[in-house]
Amino acid sequence: MTLAAEGAAGFAPALIGWQRHSGRHDLPWQGTRDPYRVWLSEIMLQQTQVSTVLGYYERFLQRFPDVHSLADAPTDDVMTLWSGLGYYSRARNLHRCAQTVVLEHGGAFPANAQTLETLPGIGASTAAAIAAFCHGERISIVDGNVRRVLSRLLAFDGDLSQAAPQRALWSRAQDLLPADPTPTDMVAYTQGLMDLGASICSRTRPGCERCPVRSMCLAHLAGTVERYPVKTRKLLRRHESWWLQIWRNVSPEGQKVWLERRPARGIWAGLYCAPVFESEALAVESPQLAGLNVHDLPPIMHSLTHRELRLHPLLVDVPSDRAMVTHTEGQWVLLDRLDQVGLPTPLRTLLQQLPD
Ligand code: ADE
Repeated sequence: MTLAAEGAAGFAPALIGWQRHSGRHDLPWQGTRDPYRVWLSEIMLQQTQVSTVLGYYERFLQRFPDVHSLADAPTDDVMTLWSGLGYYSRARNLHRCAQTVVLEHGGAFPANAQTLETLPGIGASTAAAIAAFCHGERISIVDGNVRRVLSRLLAFDGDLSQAAPQRALWSRAQDLLPADPTPTDMVAYTQGLMDLGASICSRTRPGCERCPVRSMCLAHLAGTVERYPVKTRKLLRRHESWWLQIWRNVSPEGQKVWLERRPARGIWAGLYCAPVFESEALAVESPQLAGLNVHDLPPIMHSLTHRELRLHPLLVDVPSDRAMVTHTEGQWVLLDRLDQVGLPTPLRTLLQQLPD
């Protein structure tokens, strides 16, 4: 079965009408056409919920009100403000993107999706969102939520863990766009796709009875909504154990911990972290050689996109009169100044709760 021509033509007006009446209108990145603000929101909203993004978005804009201030900032400042949002490659790309916009585009974001997509960290869907929101370009976003909405609407049986069906769905999404939209139509349509995916057309227990396009949704009409989206390949997370040396030192100003910057590539790249070891034997070697006691703290599980990390913290108290000789590229950080460094969330939580 295919979506009848009347259905395809009716989809955009129904979605736009619903968004204007019942969609979200008070998010801080709505009501602006400033590409910098829209871009920042779209990057933060990749893989992160609106409620989490709100505070980060405001703080980020206060510190970096425009693309120039962000481009000129030290990477550490960007990472610190991002710390806790996760998926840190977004922050590194964000910084690189701001620098590219300043150096190669005279400080102005390109005005079309095709050129936006050439910038660091801007994929096809983000480029489409910026172009539609800021310039009314007639182009469809297709992020994870929208794939779910459209695969149900069209009863699209292609396997969306594969690239070719993803491209096919994108092409179907283009066919569904409003015929001759004004810029504000494109704003309402794009936001409508997002709002529908975030509210009614949810992954589990969708609210079809409230859906503005239920009369044209092929999966709803066939009673097969829960079959979509079709994805055969499941994400497999590899299990890995890390031992963390938590060196703690009491100075006249207060307790300090030793933190080192992670390498530029890989997990937590560019963030500060306690020294990491792949085995317990390696992790206890240097404290034991220095004659220091090692206290095992309870392990912490932490899920990343492709990895399930088991973190084993080892607390080593260093007498304040003893110099650190083992580590070079790092610094002592006061425990009550942790908010001034970019730290992975599980480490921040751990350091805030160290035993006496
Ligand atoms: N998710 C991605 N982009 C969004 C936006 N502009 N508003 C709400 N949620 C979103």
